[in-house]
Amino acid sequence: MLNKLVKVAGIFSEAMRDAVLFLRFNSYSPFADKSKRAFYKIIIEAHTIEKGLSLRHPKMLFGKDKIRFVMAALSRYDLQHSPVPAHMSLGALDAYVNFHARAGMSDPFLDEITGYLKGWEARLPKPWKGGTRDYSFQTQPPGSLQHLIASRSSVRTLRSSPIDPDRIVEAISLAQMAPSQCNRQSSRVHTYRDPALIKELLALQGGSRGFSESVGNLFVVSSEICAWGGPGQRNQGYVDGALFAMCLLLACRSMGWGACPLNLAIDHKTESAIRRVGGIPAGERLIMMIAFGEPVAPETTVAFSPRRPAAEIVTVH
Ligand SMILES: Cc1cc2nc3c(=O)[nH]c(=O)nc-3n(C[C@H](O)[C@H](O)[C@H](O)COP(=O)(O)O)c2cc1C
Repeated sequence: MLNKLVKVAGIFSEAMRDAVLFLRFNSYSPFADKSKRAFYKIIIEAHTIEKGLSLRHPKMLFGKDKIRFVMAALSRYDLQHSPVPAHMSLGALDAYVNFHARAGMSDPFLDEITGYLKGWEARLPKPWKGGTRDYSFQTQPPGSLQHLIASRSSVRTLRSSPIDPDRIVEAISLAQMAPSQCNRQSSRVHTYRDPALIKELLALQGGSRGFSESVGNLFVVSSEICAWGGPGQRNQGYVDGALFAMCLLLACRSMGWGACPLNLAIDHKTESAIRRVGGIPAGERLIMMIAFGEPVAPETTVAFSPRRPAAEIVTVH
């Protein structure tokens, strides 16, 4: 009994320490490194531009405020920290201007961006690794693991037709090959094909604006909390759940479907609402949603989403 009480008390103290650590290092903290904060902020905002351009019918002159923010933030950014946010932003802005030029559109805002890009050409010569890139499903099925991993991309141009449940279960069985701690297999997956239900779930998620109407198949990946006990395991559901979700994304790719992970960075109130709408038991923690479906066409466009050079993220000890 005492042992159990100690474990329960440990959960409170660990949750408190989680909060302290998060308060100290999160991006709003005045103690967080300024360059790191700028790095993440610019990448996040530049991604909204490349993502907007990867939609089936991008809106003309979308995202003016974000674009102005990216230009201003990039001008203040220290390139020595990492050139990736600059590549991503400049590539996305360049693609934005080119997209409007192809549509025969002219606007003082586009001239403003063009002038801004000209100013950058000497500082960071082209080609800029950002914007969008062509994406092909023609190489299906990806023959090797390397090819499967390298050829996955978040696809936001999906066909809304529901996929045969047997094929969905086939993809899920493949994803079940994901490792899990002690082979616990705490991950759960809820799959939806009803357009009205999907609409309601996506409205609670919020990250699929611009392509939610094309989502006819949706996963909600969750993790059963009772697989985990004691303070040390408080976050492990997210570890196993994320590994499972990654395998599910790759399984979708191997089935020839497009898929896009959708964050569930939500508070308890929204999490409960999603559980209620989706018929998900209270004892499951939500990991993420995944929109998936047949691609609209074998050739499509995806956000460039450039990766940092490996050297930037590796510390060889
Ligand atoms: C946990 C997670 C949550 C994500 N949430 C969203 C989202 O809400 N909306 C969206 O359009 N993309 C979302 N994405 C997709 C990312 O933007 C994308 O993975 C990233 O830009 C890298 O691009 P890639 O997947 O094409 O390689 C999410 C990705 C992850 C891993």
